[in-house]
Amino acid sequence: MAETKKLLRSLNGETLDVPPIWMMRQAGRYLPEYRATREKAGDFLTLCYTPELAAEVTLQPIRRFGFDAAILFADILLIPDALGLEVGFVKGEGPKLSTVTTEAGLAALGDASGIHATLSPVYETLRILKAELPAETALIGFAGAPWTVATYMIAGHGTPDQGPAHKLKAENRALFEALLQRITDATIEYLSAQVEAGAEVIKLFDSWAGSLQGADFADYSLAPIRAITRALHERHPDVPVIGFPRGTSKENYVSFAKTAGVQAVAIDEHLDAAWAAAELQPLTCVQGNLAPGHMVTGGEALDAEVRRIRETFSKGPHIFNLGHGITPDADPENVARMIAALRASA
Ligand code: CP3
Repeated sequence: MAETKKLLRSLNGETLDVPPIWMMRQAGRYLPEYRATREKAGDFLTLCYTPELAAEVTLQPIRRFGFDAAILFADILLIPDALGLEVGFVKGEGPKLSTVTTEAGLAALGDASGIHATLSPVYETLRILKAELPAETALIGFAGAPWTVATYMIAGHGTPDQGPAHKLKAENRALFEALLQRITDATIEYLSAQVEAGAEVIKLFDSWAGSLQGADFADYSLAPIRAITRALHERHPDVPVIGFPRGTSKENYVSFAKTAGVQAVAIDEHLDAAWAAAELQPLTCVQGNLAPGHMVTGGEALDAEVRRIRETFSKGPHIFNLGHGITPDADPENVARMIAALRASA
């Protein structure tokens, strides 16, 4: 049977009249119905680990907007949790974790095979979604890329420049590399289980790739992602992977598109779309890259940007998305307006 899900068609290299659209962080605080479910759950991790509630918030933006894809509701910091760190989300402050900065800390972590005990509710969420999603809506599973996850495990919180992770890399490279390897192994098991539970596409978020310079990008963003795509494709040859090396250089985006083993490269809003259409799209499907600020400001500037991006990428496979996650101060009306502008543009 011919594939009918638009996201899967684009990932398979097809150029569509109207590209599929979904949005990073499409389930989230800008939606009143999300805030209500989040309140009911109490805390963020409980929301992630309660399959009925996690499925509910995943479905909310699908019901409201009719996106072409749903992304599993979970977080990249569930892997540190499953490896045994203490992970908490403090309202208004973001994530707080216990850290790994010593050999003893690494030795105390669990190994990849032990993660499913903690993560099995996530797989149940996917099974619920698989049964409840409309037939035309693709289901995306995800994980953080090892470097990005490591930056939180080393610092214990978000950092503007990933300083603590760069410091550990400089001072004890063997330990740093062993930590990346542990995260890589766990991520392979996690994503395989997500696919087995119903995820049709996988996205890898390397949100902090932009702070890896020179050979570090190849060694610590690209190489672990390639290890994950290889192992995943050995087990599940047909599952497409979208990679997101956010904030990296043009040169690195090109080497990522050529060698990461992904079927699409997601680009942030700082990358010039015309450059990406000329240099990346001949290599792979491109996802992006409307600036998330338009979801706050809206208006005709939003319509014009949607048209510009859609036209710029119209000669090859494209997935319409933001360049990063939608922010809590966004207006849901602008999300509807973005989708209408895109779908009216054919
Ligand atoms: O709708 C979706 O996109 C699916 C769910 C999802 C969440 N986080 C839910 C979430 C996804 C795919 C993520 C990925 C994620 N988490 C990333 C990579 C993408 C990116 O934004 O760069 C990162 C770096 C994280 C780590 C994280 N989780 C931080 C830094 C924070 C706090 C700051 C913030 O942006 O809110 C979170 C919490 C979080 N994850 C929320 C949501 C909806 C908000 C929590 C709340 O409701 O209080």
